[in-house]
Amino acid sequence: MTKIDNLKKERKDIAKTYSGKKIKDTYIDGVIKNFQDIQYVKIKDIIEETNDTKSFILVPDEDKGTRELASFRAGQYISLKMFIDGDYTTRAYSLSSAPNKINKGYRITIKRVPNGLVSNIMLDDMKIGDGLTISRPMGDFGYNKVRDEKNVIGIAGGSGITPFISLAYEVDAGLDDCNLTVFYSVKTEDDIIFKKEIEYFNKHCKKVKFVMTLTREEKPGYLKGHINKDMIEPYIKEFNTVLMCGPKALYKTMNEILGEFNIPRKCVHYENFMVDFLPIEEKTYELKVILKNDFKICECKSNETLLVAMEKAGIKAPSLCRVGICGYCRSVILDGKIKMIGGNMEKALAQNDYIHPCITYPESDVVLRLDI
Ligand code: FES
Repeated sequence: MTKIDNLKKERKDIAKTYSGKKIKDTYIDGVIKNFQDIQYVKIKDIIEETNDTKSFILVPDEDKGTRELASFRAGQYISLKMFIDGDYTTRAYSLSSAPNKINKGYRITIKRVPNGLVSNIMLDDMKIGDGLTISRPMGDFGYNKVRDEKNVIGIAGGSGITPFISLAYEVDAGLDDCNLTVFYSVKTEDDIIFKKEIEYFNKHCKKVKFVMTLTREEKPGYLKGHINKDMIEPYIKEFNTVLMCGPKALYKTMNEILGEFNIPRKCVHYENFMVDFLPIEEKTYELKVILKNDFKICECKSNETLLVAMEKAGIKAPSLCRVGICGYCRSVILDGKIKMIGGNMEKALAQNDYIHPCITYPESDVVLRLDI
């Protein structure tokens, strides 16, 4: 039996017999942190962008001890932490404000999601003056002068425009030395978020251009239809970097188009805030979560992630990005069959049964060790 096999057997034994007594487990190496570097903010302003989208201007909540906001790079996001009816959850939102004008606050922009829990609370219930708890800015989406080519093509769908507005401010301020062309696809003119700012950039900033296309109506000043090869071709140079933010379906179509321009995969970068997975059969499994000094048992449906199941059960599982990238939720699976969709878990860690619960779906009863 190899060392790993032994380890797995030991873990299975713990999983079967564990009854809540404090155990010594040397396998979790403390990678799971608390919701670190939190910032307390207040809503300074709420701006109605479209009929289903609002922007929130967040400034430090000095009464709670946050004196200034952490700086950020265009393309980064913050994770918003919320307690809803006693349950705890997080959501990631890109910052859409100018990184060099942090004294004016952060701006996050939220679009209504059908049955969306946090987005709908933000849109319907939050008022100016309300307090929020957020993480420091995180993520590495955006322009990176060491990695990227100077000709940057942005592809945005719907609220995926947010990081590009922030990037446009950065380029406009001379903080990034690149030429940015953003293709922005929405259904109708009324769905355009940041219309005035886009018009400003198109008029005043030589290094930034937004090309807007409407998929459901024809209007002067806009292209018609989904972003396609003919629209992009005039802006492609010998070397390009492509940044995409929007629905997964957009990524699929764009990858096919980019293949025709022979743009290498390593020059294409994506922002992801959603994991798509639909199991063939909907089932309900038992999820046993072994905590530092306790354990909890809850239900987990085959179409919900282990993270969502824990949140519904009131377990304060750590999370930030919710798409398997930041590593905050990393934990160990002690028993059971699971399916992890995407993410960036290192191979060696995956072989040692580390998982990201935010992108992991159960395929049997599961026992999970969470170091909280
Ligand atoms: S919350 Fe970021 S990896 Fe799971």
